[in-house]
Amino acid sequence: MRTDNAPVVRLSEYRPTDYAIDTVYLDIRLMPEASSVTARLSISRRDGAAAGTSLDLDGDGLVLKGLSLDGMGVADEARTVTPDRLTIHAPPADPFVLEIVTTLNPSANKALMGLYRSNGVYTTQCEAEGFRRITYFLDRPDVLSVYTTRIEARKSEAPVLLGNGNPVTAGNITGTDRHFAVWHDPHPKPPYLFAVVGGDLDAVHDSFTTASGRVVKLAIYCEHGKADRCAYAMDALKRSMRWDEERFGREYDLDVFNIVAVSDFNMGAMENKGLNVFNDKYVLVDPQTGTDQDYAHVEAVIAHEYFHNWTGNRITCRDWFQLCLKEGLTVFRDQEFSAQMRSRPVKRIGDVVALRQHQFPEDAGPLAHPVRPETYREINNFYTATVYEKGAEVCRMLQTVLGEDGFREGLDVYFQRHDGDAATIEDFLACFADATGADLTQFSLWYEQAGTPAVSVSHDFDADTQTLTMTLRQSVPETPDGKTKKPMHIPLRFGLVGPDGQDLSYGEVSGGRVNDDVIHFTGATATLTFSGVTARPVPSLLRGFSAPIRLEDDLCANDRFFLIGHDSDPFSRWEAAQQIALTMLTDATAKLRQDETPAFDPRFAEALGGLADNDGLDPAFRALALTLPGEVDIAQAIGHDVDPDAIHGARQALLKETGSAIGTLVSEAVSRNAPPAMFRPEAEDAGRRALRHASWNLSLASEPAASKQIAEAYSQAEYLTDRVAALRLLVHHQSGEAESLLAEFYDRYRDNPLVLDKWFAIQATAPGGQTLERVEALTAHPAFSMATPNRVYALIRSFAAANPTGFNREDGAGYRFLTGVIATLDKDNPSVAARLATGFRSFAMLEDSRRAAAQAALQALSATGNLSRDVADIIDRTLDDSSINA
Ligand code: BES
Ligand code: ZN
Repeated sequence: MRTDNAPVVRLSEYRPTDYAIDTVYLDIRLMPEASSVTARLSISRRDGAAAGTSLDLDGDGLVLKGLSLDGMGVADEARTVTPDRLTIHAPPADPFVLEIVTTLNPSANKALMGLYRSNGVYTTQCEAEGFRRITYFLDRPDVLSVYTTRIEARKSEAPVLLGNGNPVTAGNITGTDRHFAVWHDPHPKPPYLFAVVGGDLDAVHDSFTTASGRVVKLAIYCEHGKADRCAYAMDALKRSMRWDEERFGREYDLDVFNIVAVSDFNMGAMENKGLNVFNDKYVLVDPQTGTDQDYAHVEAVIAHEYFHNWTGNRITCRDWFQLCLKEGLTVFRDQEFSAQMRSRPVKRIGDVVALRQHQFPEDAGPLAHPVRPETYREINNFYTATVYEKGAEVCRMLQTVLGEDGFREGLDVYFQRHDGDAATIEDFLACFADATGADLTQFSLWYEQAGTPAVSVSHDFDADTQTLTMTLRQSVPETPDGKTKKPMHIPLRFGLVGPDGQDLSYGEVSGGRVNDDVIHFTGATATLTFSGVTARPVPSLLRGFSAPIRLEDDLCANDRFFLIGHDSDPFSRWEAAQQIALTMLTDATAKLRQDETPAFDPRFAEALGGLADNDGLDPAFRALALTLPGEVDIAQAIGHDVDPDAIHGARQALLKETGSAIGTLVSEAVSRNAPPAMFRPEAEDAGRRALRHASWNLSLASEPAASKQIAEAYSQAEYLTDRVAALRLLVHHQSGEAESLLAEFYDRYRDNPLVLDKWFAIQATAPGGQTLERVEALTAHPAFSMATPNRVYALIRSFAAANPTGFNREDGAGYRFLTGVIATLDKDNPSVAARLATGFRSFAMLEDSRRAAAQAALQALSATGNLSRDVADIIDRTLDDSSINA
């Protein structure tokens, strides 16, 4: 295991390698316990590097078995070898070939990085620094090479042998039970995109003809017995390929595109060139084993990894600080794809919900970092909501600032100028600046400054002069880097909603730049004056959530109710309701902490009823409107001295009151908008099902007897999405039916790991302190295993990240449970352990006794002293939080 002796890596210290590796030939002989890897590297000195400069190759736990340079042995004194490094002290002046033989044990690889074997399948995961677990290499993204891979295995063990690029040859090795396959990838690529797969796999096949007429063979490989669940993923792949041609002019560039779905995988999926490897939960769906959410995820993740072929693979990152260059942009692209496949406003609201739930808390806590960080100890810990989700928001803002056409022109320049490069954010922004003439200097602060900007707006309307004055103020909160923040370029898409609900026009605007209904707010403050406003408007700011900020406007409740009913922007209608709810919920939480009874404005339920009842609105949108802000959002809004029990109580109280007021009306709307009996994954049907589930939630909150009807719905359910929704509600409300249905569900799905994960997660997220005992008991369940990341995420991460009342139990037992699991898991799989450790990221916000208990648990874990670099990095940064040490 790598322990923490590595120095901090700094962006400012970047320099290119002294040597280039032009071609790589790998011969990989797969054996369960002793695989061997022969790497033949053609190496040349880069311009500017002095002759004789030592060649320093990265390794990670490697065993060297052979070494030669231009066919000759390398004397002991001419080299230094450790498991983590191979140094050739004075390489020749001319290009040379280095041949390295290493051996490794794929079955013992529990970290699931590098080459590992699980469920009998050999797989690799090389991003970010896993290639060095396979062979010694310059394992960094700016070392681009052309790879040829020969894979060999026992035929019965691994009839399928896959590599990057196109297949070249394959055959039996006569006189043995082994066979081989050779793959060649003509596109130079960084080592993190390398992959091989070997196993006894089933497959579905298809093909795709690109815009220019190239026929691409498509295949999705999976474990036997699972191929009948690959159809939707294949369909999503073909739609992604077409979409990238139509929207961005990007065609696929190899003869084959293979996807392999494996059941043990740390992450969601990986974009290896021509050979994507997926966690099978993002491939396998059918009506009986996948929920609507699963379908949406499969579509999005398939698209995401496919889109990396251009944004990530053809153009990669110069160094890992530029991670958002590929991830933020690719998330933006997959969000746009899903928006077009489904409903744009519904997708946008869902993305904003996720951003607020994951990225805002990260940005407000000890793990905050810029979209492009400047230092790291462990790069694995920077695959974060900030790099991904905020990174995508920055791309979206770029599109808002430049317009869709300007954005597209800039991207075209980027693809043309940097194809085949390892690029930086500066390179990226320069393409947009050059294509459009825009000055993006201030905009680039979005990549440099951590923290969620806060924008406050007040407005004043003068009917006599028909002028509207708007005063804006922005600030970026303090973050762990201690940097002084500068004002940012914040694009605020807005409308002035008139008394009839139509947007009012306006004349001249002074005091700031306003273009196409976007305010470009660039100073610390601004006072905008709109002339020619003929009636008192309600300003609708931040339409479509045009910037990832916290907006504090001065609208009164009446204004917000008006926007719920009338705003032409669906996001803003939804947002107006969320803001009213948040205000009521923070007030109610405070009341509950004083042992007072909260009271809610009855107009809120009425307004939601108005939306639910409106058959002119998309049922999916109505379902979102009926979903109150989550407990994490409420905690964020409160910001300090947080009591998760009071928050939960407040939210349940509002849900109950809303259910009593409009439950009947909502269930009538559900009847009028029932989905067809037969399951179709289309967004329209999914929306109808979501509305039905939202209605169940309201009924159960206000009327415990509704559990009977929901249990009935469970039994009658024709497909999984209804069954899971019903079970979750009954378990979370501790209804009498819950236990027997949990048993029924277990029996029904005991042989389907992906569905069983839902069984674990539903129990782990049941609110209340008693859930900890349940979760602890489930860790001893025969179906639970710490070696399966999906299982760990389903039970442990769900508990820590999605069960505020359970995890933050007052006696601190939830914290001690989590640190115990982290310590155990860290020995085998540091990257999954580190992901669990982020469950503490908001602990400094908690009220004193919980905060002290969490801190004590973290300190005890830290004091054990033998943590992986991954976990130590997260724990140290979490404990360094200045707000607790002040
Ligand atoms: N490149 C990543 C996979 C990855 C993540 C490798 C972290 C190494 C460390 C891939 O493109 C990705 O982003 N996957 C996401 C899902 C995606 C839809 C956002 C994941 O795995 O969670
Ligand atoms: Zn990605």
